[in-house]
Amino acid sequence: MSEDGMTDLQEEELDRADLIHSEGGHVLSLMDATIKFGGLTAVNKVSFDLSRGDLFGLIGPNGAGKTTCFNLITGVYKPTSGEILFHGKSVAGMKPNQIAHLGICRTFQNIRLFGALSSLENVVVGGFLRHKTPLLSSLLLMPSAVTETAELREKAMHLLEVMNLADDAHTRSRDLPYGKQRRLEIARAMATDPSLILLDEPAAGMNPQEKEELSTTVRRIRDEFNKTVLLIEHDMRFVMGLCEKIVVLDHGEEIAAGGPDEVRNDPKVIEAYLGEAV
Ligand SMILES: Nc1ncnc2c1ncn2[C@@H]1O[C@H](COP(=O)(O)OP(=O)(O)O)[C@@H](O)[C@H]1O
Ligand SMILES: [Mg+2]
Repeated sequence: MSEDGMTDLQEEELDRADLIHSEGGHVLSLMDATIKFGGLTAVNKVSFDLSRGDLFGLIGPNGAGKTTCFNLITGVYKPTSGEILFHGKSVAGMKPNQIAHLGICRTFQNIRLFGALSSLENVVVGGFLRHKTPLLSSLLLMPSAVTETAELREKAMHLLEVMNLADDAHTRSRDLPYGKQRRLEIARAMATDPSLILLDEPAAGMNPQEKEELSTTVRRIRDEFNKTVLLIEHDMRFVMGLCEKIVVLDHGEEIAAGGPDEVRNDPKVIEAYLGEAV
């Protein structure tokens, strides 16, 4: 409790509300974000801005520094230099859970679901990150927690419907086919009610039909839930069809930025991707 009698959680709620309702400005800004691992500069002076409602792609060959950018934004790593602003507030050096509370959520390149839990349970657990009731008192079914848990389940069910997973609500997540596991991860991330959602190679390993469904889902997240989306993707065709703005990294450096057509025809981008195919 602080002097004015607010709990840390209440203060965080206020911080978050302040941030998200501060109109204007960018949702996310990287300003010369840089991180070095020993002699390797994995991300080198990368700068870009996301506005509210952007569907923004971060692309580049393997090892370009894309996941490392996500790790900087989500507080896994602190930048060696440069600045990262979320709704105008510096988050560089904050702890991952603080940043998550402010409203940035992510999925991982490798699926990280709770395999033994059902789809619905996975999403409900995601929701507890943002909710007032501690998970423990809910598990113990404390009276105050019962209503809130019911609300969370209802919200989780709605998210499963949006992700086209309602029929799988009670299936153990490890028994779902791969494409559905990927969509479930997004549903779980959405349950934290973020304003910015980061997706790390959401289409990896999907077949063309699953990719098509994923595109539709990501668009709905933006259009119906008013989220800002930043996604990493290796598959150029997928990103070009989905994202309106794109930044291209190669060896930690930004080599191009712009709309799909600009980026697609940029000689530096073609060269970076050709270099990879060889
Ligand atoms: N914790 C770390 N320690 C040392 N090197 C790392 C670390 N994380 C990433 N790297 C290196 O940074 C580079 C960029 O990696 P990454 O961001 O994962 O690339 P990608 O664009 O494929 O997601 C790679 O050379 C990788 O080996
Ligand atoms: Mg990666």
